[in-house]
Amino acid sequence: MDNRRLTVGSLKENTVKPLTNNFKNEKKSTKKDIKRGVKSEKIDVVQNNRIYKIIPEANHTLLDTALNQKQKLSFKCKKGTCGQCMINVLRGMEYLEEPTNKEHKKLEAKVNKGYRLACQAMVK
Ligand code: FES
Repeated sequence: MDNRRLTVGSLKENTVKPLTNNFKNEKKSTKKDIKRGVKSEKIDVVQNNRIYKIIPEANHTLLDTALNQKQKLSFKCKKGTCGQCMINVLRGMEYLEEPTNKEHKKLEAKVNKGYRLACQAMVK
């Protein structure tokens, strides 16, 4: 049985929001970043129909990296339990460590489809 609650808005056509980007907060690499080992390549992720471009910063979680760069990823617990920070990685998976046990437990098969928990995904 489908327990979804239908509202007038959910029955209207074209109510699904198209993907938008958040490039206005995009940060360019500076000489200081390069010295610190910050790469100029980006990790492209989608969360809540928005695309975020995150510059990898080694040894930080993807969530902390994004927040440091003023990218407003949604999150709640930062412990890998709520799932609020779930993202789909479009590009740059090679900059992330392998999914953790918490990610496998929370996301199950979605891990194999590029989904990650930003609060648990460590940048290499
Ligand atoms: S913030 Fe709760 S799982 Fe990442």
